Amino acid sequence: MKPVLQRCLLVLLLVAAPSALAADLTGDWTATGQRPDGSKIQMMFRFRQDGSRLTGIVSRSSSDLAIVNGQVNGSQFSFDVQMSFGERSRTLSYSGTITGDALEISAPNPRSDVPLHLTARHATAAEVAANWPERIPVPALHPVPANGLARTPPMGWNSWNHFAGKIDDKTVREIADAMVSNGMKAAGYVYVNIDDTWQGTRDAQGNIRPNDKFPDMKALADYVHSKGLKIGIYSGPGPKTCAGYEGSYGREAQDARTYAAWGIDYLKYDWCSAGKIYQDDDMQAVYQKMGDALRAAGRPIVYSLCQYGRDAVWEWGAAVGGNLWRTTGDISDNWNSMMGIVTHQFGLERWAGPGHWNDPDMLEIGNGGMTADEYRTHMSLWAILAAPLLAGNDLRDASRETLDMLENREVIAVDQNPLGQQGHRVAFNANFGEWARPLSGGAQAVALVNFGDAAATLSVNWKDLGLNGPLNVRDLWAHADRGRQADGFSAQVPPHGVLLIEIKP
Ligand code: GLA
Repeated sequence: MKPVLQRCLLVLLLVAAPSALAADLTGDWTATGQRPDGSKIQMMFRFRQDGSRLTGIVSRSSSDLAIVNGQVNGSQFSFDVQMSFGERSRTLSYSGTITGDALEISAPNPRSDVPLHLTARHATAAEVAANWPERIPVPALHPVPANGLARTPPMGWNSWNHFAGKIDDKTVREIADAMVSNGMKAAGYVYVNIDDTWQGTRDAQGNIRPNDKFPDMKALADYVHSKGLKIGIYSGPGPKTCAGYEGSYGREAQDARTYAAWGIDYLKYDWCSAGKIYQDDDMQAVYQKMGDALRAAGRPIVYSLCQYGRDAVWEWGAAVGGNLWRTTGDISDNWNSMMGIVTHQFGLERWAGPGHWNDPDMLEIGNGGMTADEYRTHMSLWAILAAPLLAGNDLRDASRETLDMLENREVIAVDQNPLGQQGHRVAFNANFGEWARPLSGGAQAVALVNFGDAAATLSVNWKDLGLNGPLNVRDLWAHADRGRQADGFSAQVPPHGVLLIEIKP
């Protein structure tokens, strides 16, 4: 090659090289951003660029998802991932720009149509190791002795449904105050449960510390206890929680001791990023590990399993020391979500009993997405299902109508019936559903739900329940006796509304 040509080529290479390098996305990237509620997002991208083709993994706090349809075009790139929510699956589309050493990414927000903005930079070796840690071997299975708690389904409040990432010490204290002054405590609600986003970093000894929103967990627990209430906290067996905060991976025993030292009375333990390390087959052993750790920590702590009903958790939840286990994915504040969850409870009644309950998720009553009739149906079915009653609204400004639903003593009495037998489906079709729950003393609670958009007359026949009349009927929402009925009982039920009665010989 002629020297002049050589020089030209060199100049060309030097000019072209920086942009060619910048456009190569291959490698691991740490992306950060903020949700609209102010909580932080952290995720990783493992990109592999081959010409204009982009493949790899989006590593969210809950799962690793394979990149599809990935393309790079100059400084622009885009790709999709397929995300499944229970049986449904959704395509999430990302796009971005390469700006020097950083990536500006527009990421889908599964909770809204407004995309999230993330900035990504090359990940450090430590970040990569933290995101994809080595799998710690799981313990051999053995039954964890029952802790004797939750003889009836737990009652209280949880921060997630209403506050999500916007929960802090001050709000938790105000909720506890409200529960005392608005009658919730008197109605039987005890637990004040902090869900995700309280976690900070670990100290040099690996002890978990709360973040800035919770200056002193022990002091907060003392405050809640001083109100005659109990306090709950949240973690998970993976390195990160669902919202991307520090999890208990490899620190199970240490975290259980920390919770006990703070005075924590309830732990919700959420699978999330554990799914990047373990298989569903490992779930029982992984949950047993924390069950053992809580027991060894020596404080009575209600143990709430949250892994969305996978691996038939109802069959082994009690054996790992669990007091309750979620049976489905997350509830949303709408009729279809709430009733969809109910249809996943059919047949699970045989696994519930004093000390160990199916958990169809927290209540949405008072959050505004359903009508009052729909919320009464929600409350009634949770009582029939012997579900934990964890209010999920802002109790500081709850309306009297909302409080009257949550505090309905007669409905609560069904939920808390000492027999501890979960109700079952009697009939279910396009128009209505009927459920019955055996209560102590030979009584039964019966719920009739109108699925239609117009009021309808619904009937319960004693013979469908295997009972002979006459029976005494009491309407638990009207707080009224409806007399002694020979064969059954009928009533007008509003659209999406409920008739909840107690029947007694
Ligand atoms: C999961 C759980 C929810 C809530 C969030 C918090 O989605 O199922 O109940 O705890 O995580 O990130």
